[in-house]
Amino acid sequence: MSEAKKLFIKTYGCQMNVYDSERMAEALGGSGYVTTDTADDADMILLNTCHIREKAAEKVYSELGRFKGLKAAKPDLKIGVAGCVAQAEGEEIMRRQPMVDLVVGPQSYHRLPDMEAKAGAGQKALDTDFPEEDKFEHLKARPKAKRAPAAFLTVQEGCDKFCAFCVVPYTRGAEVSRPADRVLTEARDLVDRGVREITLLGQNVNAYHGASSDGDWGLARLIRELAKIDDLKRIRFTTSHPNDMEEDLIAAHGDCEKLMPYLHLPVQSGSDRILKAMNRKHTAESYIRLVERIRAARPDLLLSGDFIVGFPGETDQDFEDTMSLVREVGYGQAYSFKYSTRPGTPAAEKPQIDPDVASERLHRLQELLTQQQHAAQDAMVGREVGVMIERKGRLDGQMVGKSDHLHAVHLQAPADNVGQILRVKITESAPNSLAGTLVA
Ligand code: SAH
Ligand code: SF4
Ligand code: F3S
Repeated sequence: MSEAKKLFIKTYGCQMNVYDSERMAEALGGSGYVTTDTADDADMILLNTCHIREKAAEKVYSELGRFKGLKAAKPDLKIGVAGCVAQAEGEEIMRRQPMVDLVVGPQSYHRLPDMEAKAGAGQKALDTDFPEEDKFEHLKARPKAKRAPAAFLTVQEGCDKFCAFCVVPYTRGAEVSRPADRVLTEARDLVDRGVREITLLGQNVNAYHGASSDGDWGLARLIRELAKIDDLKRIRFTTSHPNDMEEDLIAAHGDCEKLMPYLHLPVQSGSDRILKAMNRKHTAESYIRLVERIRAARPDLLLSGDFIVGFPGETDQDFEDTMSLVREVGYGQAYSFKYSTRPGTPAAEKPQIDPDVASERLHRLQELLTQQQHAAQDAMVGREVGVMIERKGRLDGQMVGKSDHLHAVHLQAPADNVGQILRVKITESAPNSLAGTLVA
């Protein structure tokens, strides 16, 4: 057998890209590649890119620039661009960076091995189709490689919501759900390979409606069926849209023990005027009432969210409305961004607001969100929580895991406990993690 070729993948953007990168690495395993941690010794470099904000998209070109020397030294090094920038900019990438050999959009990854072979024959390969076939079915996994205990599993892709600021409906295409039996088969396979916690992924994961032998299943039904897999101990899902939070999914938060008490539910703004301009199709009030219903089902739920400040037309009062919503709802964790103009989206056509004003607002919002995050962490001190051990820590005898509420927890524990869920008493809250001790 010839020596394995080395593949370096760098992943940007959301968890769906993380999952896709794993699947692409597995698919290229069939073409003789093993993954490597550095670009320096790679035979192929693949950037799995994100187009969500301007900075994310520009990173791709600066990163590619850094590979020029490598390519000059090793002409048969293959360089590929995958992900949402590949989808959005296609051939433009090869024009700006002629050393790129292949460009592949997120719905065409199953064609990657063929494209790699083509690129190997000195040609360029480009595929940004939205094909009919299910790419995941055509992406073959390498047999039974052992896995880390926490894994992602994409169940839904694409988005039909067309929020006025967002590129996802254009880069990922229309909403598609994977058939339920395929998701269950993949989940069982992951569990056989050592996985104990699965995070179900989708751009709008709670809009999931996958075909099964027993009719169409929503996300709640899928979660309940997954919960029947004995050695699967924890289930999470992300990202959700407020308008798809159905009654049965709310109920599952109350009575499905394996569904963890954590929910990422972006609202983007607390101003109805801005929500309308964003085409979110919900109000601040309806979001707040929804959160109340979910918390009634699961009182200790830790809520996470996404916010955009400086959307076109946002006034001081609109921004104050966002601050009030944050104060009223209370987040344990959140992501907040300055609005970034994305070509081709409706909001890009509108008069933009002063960037300094937007920066100032972002700063104020982040201060408030950080306070809330710390308060939520501090409230864990003294409590006993479940922690799934994921890896060794930096200190001697230290292990690191995730709590039910998705906090990173450091503790002293035997090293052979990876994948176990241990009872831990939280003793300390640090800026971005907790510390605790094992409960006998
Ligand atoms: N499907 C998810 C979000 C995907 S994008 C949802 O609907 O919640 C992740 C986050 O990036 C969004 O929630 C939004 O807060 C942010 N985002 C998207 N487009 C943006 C833009 N043009 N400028 C700034 N932030 C943006
Ligand atoms: Fe983007 Fe809105 Fe779709 Fe989320 S729901 S991916 S923010 S268009
Ligand atoms: Fe980015 Fe595409 Fe995900 S734009 S956030 S990588 S869906």
